[in-house]
Amino acid sequence: MFLGLDLGTSGLRALLATVDGDILASAEQAYPVNHPHSGWSEQDPNDWVRALGAAAAELKANHPTEFAALKGIAISGHMHGATLLDENGQVLRPCILWNDTRSHVEAAQLDQTPGVRDLSGNIVFPGFTAPKLAWVRKHEPDTFARVAKVLLPKDYLGHWLTGKYISDMSDSAGTSWLDVGARDWSEELLSASGMRRDQMPDLVEGSDVAGRIRPDLAREWGVSEDVVIAGGGGDNAVAACGVGTLREGDGFVSLGTSGVLLAAKDSFAPKPGSAVHTFCHAIPGTWYQMGVILAATDSLNWLSRNLDHSAADLSAMVGNTISGPGSVRFLPYLSGERTPHNDSAIRGALIGLDIGTGQKELTQAVMEGVGFALRDSLEALKSTGTELNRLLAIGGGSQSRYWVEMLATLLNLPVDLPEKGEFGAALGAVRLAICAATGAAPETVMTAPKVAGTIEPRGDLTAAYDEAYQKFRATYPAIKAIQ
Ligand code: XUL
Repeated sequence: MFLGLDLGTSGLRALLATVDGDILASAEQAYPVNHPHSGWSEQDPNDWVRALGAAAAELKANHPTEFAALKGIAISGHMHGATLLDENGQVLRPCILWNDTRSHVEAAQLDQTPGVRDLSGNIVFPGFTAPKLAWVRKHEPDTFARVAKVLLPKDYLGHWLTGKYISDMSDSAGTSWLDVGARDWSEELLSASGMRRDQMPDLVEGSDVAGRIRPDLAREWGVSEDVVIAGGGGDNAVAACGVGTLREGDGFVSLGTSGVLLAAKDSFAPKPGSAVHTFCHAIPGTWYQMGVILAATDSLNWLSRNLDHSAADLSAMVGNTISGPGSVRFLPYLSGERTPHNDSAIRGALIGLDIGTGQKELTQAVMEGVGFALRDSLEALKSTGTELNRLLAIGGGSQSRYWVEMLATLLNLPVDLPEKGEFGAALGAVRLAICAATGAAPETVMTAPKVAGTIEPRGDLTAAYDEAYQKFRATYPAIKAIQ
């Protein structure tokens, strides 16, 4: 049996699965995100440990025989978080999360340091790990002086499981300390933010063995001391493993809280200026690129809170099929934007409101704004030379046929909808655990889900959506000038 763990921002999801990747049981545990100041976003690493302990106990209680037959564990985690440990492995301060923007000044400084973009393959975004350490160095010098190890969130759980300090390439690629092309820590990048290699964990590939379970934990859980812990990975790379997005030409669009347009890459081909993220994949010799928009279903949830109607009710108002863009324009920058603007200060806008604008028109505008922002991400990916032939749609927003048809038309790509079932990061983690524990080749384990249906672009409406997209593009500089 294999345990796949998804350490998400709001909770941990655990899947117990067979060697064929069939899910036997799942367990979930929630934990809070704390915002002690505006722009800050922190978590207590002990909450992750408690969540894992409780999820494991639940799976064990409900499936004792299967749990006792555990062979491998892998963890997918929210990326970029800085978990700071002293020389005894004690946590020094709350983990600073991926969506914490306090270090935007330090990020801009690092981003301008010669060589940093070339080696890391990315803009130094304020949410990345290196600028967080530069912030701690400046604002909490006593803590900074005591930092013996910096771990990404899932690697802290990995440390709890194995007693070792190990990370994988895909998660480490989001630190701005990794030479993403060479898949190794870069002395040059580390020294640019006053860090040393001995403060970093050792590196393995996500589908390789990172270590074995601590003997005392094996006894407590009633499992073999041979249980293997895989390298694991950052959430998007592991989600890609869950849907078989492994090779050049494979891609998915995720309509989750944030929106992601991800393309697998056989080579390292970065173009940081496009604000496309280029990271190592969780399997060897492979990379991926993605455009990230910060508020996808989060935009619809924002509207739902303010109109006092559920997101499902709002979706029902626009129906199942598109009939051309509306005249109200929404800019989905509710939390700033990554691709293509790299602008944590920009905020959203609603433009073109009419006396007749009602809930339906506002819902359409919000869905379109998210669609246009994802088109921006597609254009950014294309500017790096990446070509996609079709996409798989995942995430809660892909339940709306209307939204998916609009995306297919705006991106001018056929969009496949997977059959119902489990295919997120937790399944990707199960698959990494299987590879690490059995030595199976990733290609044989990480297959694409069965497709329930394909939504084709609406050729009769592409010109109308293209025209509306050009207006959307012109809006960012205009609102930037007045905000
Ligand atoms: C990726 C990113 C998010 C986080 C949280 O760059 O910031 O995907 O990993 O999900």
